[in-house]
Amino acid sequence: MEKFARGREQGRGRGEGDGEREGEEESDLLKGKILANLFYEPSTRTRLSFETAMKRLGGEVLNLYSTETSSVAKGENLADTIRTVSGYCDAIVLRHPREGASRMAASLASVPVINAGDGAGQHPTQTLLDLYTLKKEGLLENLRIALVGDLKYGRTVHSLAYALALYGATLFFVSPEALRMPEEVKMDLRAAGAAGAAEAEAAGAAGAGAEVFETSDLSAVVKEVDVLYVTRIQKERFPDPAEYRKVAGAYRVTRGLLKENEDLVIMHPLPRVDEIDAAVDGTKNARYFKQAFYGVPVRMAVLSTLLGAGGERRREGEEKQGASKNARGNRRNSGVGEEAPRTLRERTADDRE
Ligand code: CP
Repeated sequence: MEKFARGREQGRGRGEGDGEREGEEESDLLKGKILANLFYEPSTRTRLSFETAMKRLGGEVLNLYSTETSSVAKGENLADTIRTVSGYCDAIVLRHPREGASRMAASLASVPVINAGDGAGQHPTQTLLDLYTLKKEGLLENLRIALVGDLKYGRTVHSLAYALALYGATLFFVSPEALRMPEEVKMDLRAAGAAGAAEAEAAGAAGAGAEVFETSDLSAVVKEVDVLYVTRIQKERFPDPAEYRKVAGAYRVTRGLLKENEDLVIMHPLPRVDEIDAAVDGTKNARYFKQAFYGVPVRMAVLSTLLGAGGERRREGEEKQGASKNARGNRRNSGVGEEAPRTLRERTADDRE
């Protein structure tokens, strides 16, 4: 990842600037490869940063960004779209309103599928850029972080909580009662903690796993944490608009709040509505635009890992070991990053055999 994140002077209003211009390196690494962006839900950052990342690596991008102007509007189901688009590209980026959609797509596709957000499920590449932001800030070790807002429907915080457990972070879940972190996520975090502690004891090392606290009171945690990771309350996921109105505007980060902890780092996956006052944008605490910018180098790293020369070498190694074509196809269906996929040209040649 560092390969794509080394920089020159940061400019063009990319947030809070630290003298870098990351993610601007250009390369031919993915020349001849095609990425299909399939977005069944709105997106600005994820779709455009994947597109920028692919183009900076010399590849090309197909976009389905409106279900109104594609055959989805005629009633085509996701499975048929995935089977079809697999034949047009070397990897698929999928955002879909249904939880589990990417997993299902990966089981049908003949190319890797990257989950770009599945309903209220997960958003793993957002987590990679969140971790990268924390690493750049030197905050990843011994981190104390509050995840704030819509923890029930917020896919970014689900993925992030799992990832931070691997770093032994202390997590404060701050939400209205109705938007608590799902029980299954909390159970997984507790299990990860127990497993981490057992492994650590066996290895004589410090344990992984997250220590978790839960509250509705944001002001109670502001002095306790290094980072506030703020999220939007997601109106579009509420089955009942009346329930949304009860919790809308529950939290608002203002300059006044920052006086309680002057070193507090404010992150947000964006888009925001009103949960961070615009007056916070120009403070030393704000990181959310820089965080969004890191989507480019991080997604360059994801794409180059999946489709680049390292992947090609892995594939060649397997072919030398005499892996059969069918065995390759089966593994390819299993999802992201397990094997470098063949180019469209290679697959077409195989199919002619
Ligand atoms: N953070 C994020 O997923 O933003 P978009 O919805 O704009 O892609």
